[in-house]
This record gives sequence, structure tokens and C-alpha cells, in this order.
Amino acid sequence: MKVQSLLNLYLLTVLVQPLIGFDDGFPSPYFNRLFSQPMTTVVGRLYEDVILPCSFEKGHGIVIHWQKEGKLVHSYYRESDHLEQQEPDYAKRTSLFLNEINNGNASLELRRLNLQDEGVYTCYAATVAETKHIEVELKLGAFITPVMEYQEQNGDDYLTCYLFGAHPLPTITWTANNATSLESNIEVLSHPLFSVKSQLNITGSNSSYQCIIENLVLNQRWIGKWKTEGTLLTTEGKKVLFPCKLKNEDFSPEKSITVSWYRVENSSSTILASFSSSSSRVVFDNRFTWTKDMTQEKYKFSLTLMSPTPSNNGKYLCNISSVNYTELTVQPLTVEPSQGNSFNNTCIILWAILAPGVVLGLVGALIYWKKNCNSNSSPTGEQEERESMNLPICENQHHEALKQ
Ligand SMILES: *[C@@H]1O[C@H](CO)[C@@H](O)[C@H](O)[C@H]1NC(C)=O
Ligand SMILES: *[C@@H]1O[C@H](CO)[C@@H](O)[C@H](O)[C@H]1NC(C)=O
Ligand SMILES: *[C@@H]1O[C@H](CO)[C@@H](O)[C@H](O)[C@H]1NC(C)=O
Ligand SMILES: *[C@@H]1O[C@H](CO)[C@@H](O)[C@H](O)[C@H]1NC(C)=O
Ligand SMILES: *[C@@H]1O[C@H](CO)[C@@H](O)[C@H](O)[C@H]1NC(C)=O
Ligand SMILES: *[C@@H]1O[C@H](CO)[C@@H](O)[C@H](O)[C@H]1NC(C)=O
Ligand SMILES: *[C@@H]1O[C@H](CO)[C@@H](O)[C@H](O)[C@H]1NC(C)=O
Repeated sequence: MKVQSLLNLYLLTVLVQPLIGFDDGFPSPYFNRLFSQPMTTVVGRLYEDVILPCSFEKGHGIVIHWQKEGKLVHSYYRESDHLEQQEPDYAKRTSLFLNEINNGNASLELRRLNLQDEGVYTCYAATVAETKHIEVELKLGAFITPVMEYQEQNGDDYLTCYLFGAHPLPTITWTANNATSLESNIEVLSHPLFSVKSQLNITGSNSSYQCIIENLVLNQRWIGKWKTEGTLLTTEGKKVLFPCKLKNEDFSPEKSITVSWYRVENSSSTILASFSSSSSRVVFDNRFTWTKDMTQEKYKFSLTLMSPTPSNNGKYLCNISSVNYTELTVQPLTVEPSQGNSFNNTCIILWAILAPGVVLGLVGALIYWKKNCNSNSSPTGEQEERESMNLPICENQHHEALKQ
């Protein structure tokens, strides 16, 4: 009856204003009256379970139907479930809270969510006294922890953020030095979850970078951070400590963090050591040890290289990660060869010892030569030139010797 009168009203409106209407089908007041309650939105995670809420005034003769876009999801009447007409997609994935139905709870549990479950569900709950329609919108979210990578390729340095599996399409933002936002192209694949990849060329840059990936439906945010430290300098054989500092907020005991050390070379990286709060410390390259001095908590994950050689020169990377962040710190190392230095030292010492002897010897030779000269003729300019070329260091002594 009500519907009929609304339709009449609609036709009347159309007749009065012939240019408006029709393309939308039914006028909106019809739906507004039928679904007077505001739609509830529920967010579920892919592969997990969710409860779609629905409640009604308790009474006798309870009938519950859950539908989605005309398909039957779940039915209950005569005090039991009736799933004969259930849409096969929902088989064995739905249930009502049977103990709570008589209290007016018609909520539906939907298990092992898949992408097709997204949409608007209608709960039709009736007793002899009253009928209720409630709409529940189910939104689905998926967000597999992203990864940030640092690579050297053909002499250029790149940062890449990847996410393999998200729904809906996540947002990616890059910032430099925690302030300026950067432009960067984003590659997207959809099969059917979204995979995204975004790369930044940071060749020769000294800035710190952040890659922020957000899922606005799940309200989940992941941050990848990257920075580089000043070059560590050491000499061959002199032990060197690679610092990897954690901030206080990383220490909350419920957070499971992993710390790993890599050596970055060309386009590949080699793991040196790793720590995970669920397992323990592992060293893969036995030239390195976890630093023993842990008096300062923030140095807890520093690595020590006992006897560095110039072959260890390069870039080292500390990776601190948890569910919603990754922090990469690049540490360049330069080892100066000690052989070169000790060779130079030996030379200087040898010279210090030998030089006076050589000088004395030369002075002696000159005196002898002067005597010879005096007995013959005075030296020609040519001869003097040749001598000063051959014995440049001793030139002063030569002249002193001549004065004597
Ligand atoms: C219905 O019962 C379930 C299970 O106890 C509960 O989680 C849900 O919140 C209830 N819903 C309403 C609308 O009361
Ligand atoms: C950093 O560590 C996390 C957790 O172990 C790992 O998933 C990620 O691939 C690592 N990233 C790099 C660049 O090594
Ligand atoms: C980066 O910016 C955020 C928000 O503006 C702030 O909370 C944070 O402390 C900053 N971090 C650094 C290292 O400056
Ligand atoms: C990366 O940046 C460096 C320095 O700005 C530039 O010389 C180089 O050509 C860039 N590489 C690519 C592939 O664009
Ligand atoms: C790199 O950063 C450090 C400190 O942030 C600064 O002292 C140095 O001048 C910078 N170097 C270049 C090449 O920008
Ligand atoms: C990181 O994840 C934890 C739980 O996984 C959450 O409690 C926390 O709010 C998240 N932090 C951020 C910045 O999203
Ligand atoms: C990296 O490149 C240099 C020269 O380009 C090469 O000598 C070295 O073997 C490479 N290292 C690895 C691990 O591929």
C-alpha cells in the first residue's frame, strides 16, 4: 500500500516536472523510508573472520534472513537454521549466535573472508510484532608487510619499496629529510590483490628518506626509513665497531623486532649477522661478532670486525624491522693498509740512522776531492753542475766543505 502511494507521488512529480527523473529509476524517498537506519560499516581482513551486526526487538516467531545483493547468505526460522537455499559461496562459512537469537541478536559470523565477500549485506529480522531491515557494508582490507630495499646498480644508488598483496590500492608517499615530499612513479599490478613497487634514485644523496605506505581501509601504516652514516675509518688490523642504534620506542617488550646486518656490493647484498626477538643472535660471517659491550642499550645490535683489511672496504647495512616499520642505515667503511704505513716508518728510521753516515762519507770524499782539485786546477762550472745533480742533498755540505 505504502509503496503504491509513493509510486503515485513519483508519477505525479514526473508529470509536473517532465524533464527530471526517470534515469534514476525509483525516487530516493522510497529507499530512505525502507532503510531508515544508517548503514553500518564493518571492516574485515582478508582470510580472517568477521561479525556483521544486527539486532531486533525480541519476540515470538523469529525469522532471520541475511542476503547480499539478492543472494541468500543465511536463513533461520522455526527455531533452526535453513541453509537449503544458501548461495554455495557461503557454504560452511556462516553462523548465527544461536544462544543469543532469543535476546534479539541476529548478528552473522562470516569466516575466511575472500574479496567477493565485499559489499552490502541486508539483515531481515522479523517477529510477529515487528520487521526490521538493517544494512551492513562489509569492506575488506589486506596488507602484507612491505619491504624496503637499497641497491647499487651500475654505479647508481636506488631505494625501492615493494608491497606484494594489498586491498584496496594502498597509498605510497616518499619524503626526504622527514619534510620534503618527493615525486616518484608507482608500478601497480592487480592479480587480484594489488602489488605495488616504487623506486627512487638517490645517487650521491646525503639525505635521509622515508617511504610511507598506507592502507586507508585498515587504517594501517608502514614506514620504511633509510639513512647513511659518515664513513668509518680504521687501519688494517685495528678492530672496528659498526653501530646500530635502536630508539627507545623500539624496545617495548611486546614488539617483535629483527635486526640484520648486510654487506652491500654491486646489486647484491650478503648477510653477515641477524637477531630476532623470537629466536636469538646468529652470525653468518665469522669475521664478525656481535659487540659484547651492551652497557648502552642503544648499541645493543652493533657488530665488531676484529681484524679489518682493505678487502673489507665497502658499504654495510643495518636493518631494524618490525611489523610496521623498517629502518635501514648504511655504514661505509674504509680500512687503510697498515703495510704501507710500516714501510714508510721503516724508511724514515733507516734514513735517520743512515743519513749522518752518508753525509760524513760524502764530506770525507769531498775533502779528498778538494785536495785533488787544489793539486790540479779549480773545478769547471760543468763539473759543479754534474756534482750537484748527483748529490743534491749534500750540496750545502759540499759548499761548507769548500769554505773550510
Ligand atoms: C551478538 O552476539 C555476539 C556473540 O556473543 C557478539 O559478539 C555480538 O556483539 C552480538 N551482537 C549484538 C548486536 O548484540
Ligand atoms: C629487513 O628485515 C626484514 C625482516 O627480517 C626483511 O623482511 C627485509 O627483507 C629486510 N630488508 C632488507 C633490505 O634487508
Ligand atoms: C619526523 O616528522 C614527524 C612528524 O612531523 C615527527 O613526529 C618526527 O619526530 C620527525 N622525525 C625526525 C627524525 O625528525
Ligand atoms: C640517478 O641519479 C644520478 C645523479 O642524480 C644521475 O646521474 C643518474 O643518471 C640517475 N640514473 C638514472 C637511471 O636516471
Ligand atoms: C652530508 O651531511 C652532513 C651532515 O648531515 C654534512 O655535514 C655534509 O656536509 C653533507 N655532505 C654533502 C655532500 O652534502
Ligand atoms: C604498529 O603495529 C601495532 C600492532 O601491530 C599497532 O599497535 C601500532 O599502532 C602500529 N603502529 C603504527 C605507527 O601504525
Ligand atoms: C662488484 O663489482 C666489482 C667491479 O665492478 C667486482 O670486482 C666485484 O667482484 C663485484 N662483486 C660482486 C660481489 O659481484
